Amino acid sequence: MGQIVDPEGRVCEQTKWHSRQKHAFLEEYLDIWSNQVGKDGKSKLPTLDIFDLYASFGFCFCPVEKKTWMGSALLAAECLKKYQSGKLLFLNTYHPDENELRAQKKSLENGLSNIHLPERVRTVIESLPIEKAVEFVISHVNPNYPSLWILDPYQPEHLPWDIVERICKLEGSYQAGNRKITRRPELFICLMTGRLQRLTGIDKEKEKVGTALGMEENMWKAKLENYRDSDDNTRRALISMYAEKIAETISEKNKMQRKAEKSGHKQLFFE
Ligand SMILES: C[S@@+](CC[C@H](N)C(=O)[O-])C[C@H]1O[C@@H](n2cnc3c(N)ncnc32)[C@H](O)[C@@H]1O
Repeated sequence: MGQIVDPEGRVCEQTKWHSRQKHAFLEEYLDIWSNQVGKDGKSKLPTLDIFDLYASFGFCFCPVEKKTWMGSALLAAECLKKYQSGKLLFLNTYHPDENELRAQKKSLENGLSNIHLPERVRTVIESLPIEKAVEFVISHVNPNYPSLWILDPYQPEHLPWDIVERICKLEGSYQAGNRKITRRPELFICLMTGRLQRLTGIDKEKEKVGTALGMEENMWKAKLENYRDSDDNTRRALISMYAEKIAETISEKNKMQRKAEKSGHKQLFFE
């Protein structure tokens, strides 16, 4: 929703109060790394890389409640600081307007500098439109190690399905005793079902639904009808369709992988 200065003079993302819930949920989720994975202080902990591709200003401020709190990027930074094996913090903060972009980046850098990340955490800040950001970052990821991706756009159409698909396909593997286990990235997606639902009913906006869901109009319409027949409301139907699409992407990749293994082309997927 753009910038706003809070009573302490910090330039923040202007946010509605309900967003606080999203950040509280993300904070709890990220705490799993320090409170669970790293709780016994084991020496051989897996490393963790976090990629926040819609990082914004760092802080959020709700003018109605007059409250400031940490947005996704600063929560991610806190997580990597607390978790003993936090390794990479990749933040992409972009805005099509150059002045907004500059303000976002400056404010994000200020917020980060107050967190005092330890040296083991490498921080990279980029300012690229999402397609370029994902292109750039994918070439630097090692999918054999845990990675967490935060995808929190303003609008559902700002996160085209093919971006999600490319991230889902970043599979690697790790060894657990004699077994080779597939490693997949973890995705935290803010799916804006309210707006998606509205767009499904507006003729000239339907293309945006297709972009976000990665489906032709006739396909998402048919699926939506199907879910509605089984008594689901549109919001739940959209969530189910999205989850189903992610599951399909993963199983499609597994099928290709098994086929390649049979024909002796294992390295195509594991190197
Ligand atoms: C909902 S805000 C992100 C809030 C942030 N995750 C937080 O928790 O504080 C969406 C962000 O996406 C940025 N954005 C808009 N268009 C974009 C695009 N095409 N590619 C990447 N980012 C974009 C906006 O400037 C804004 O910073």
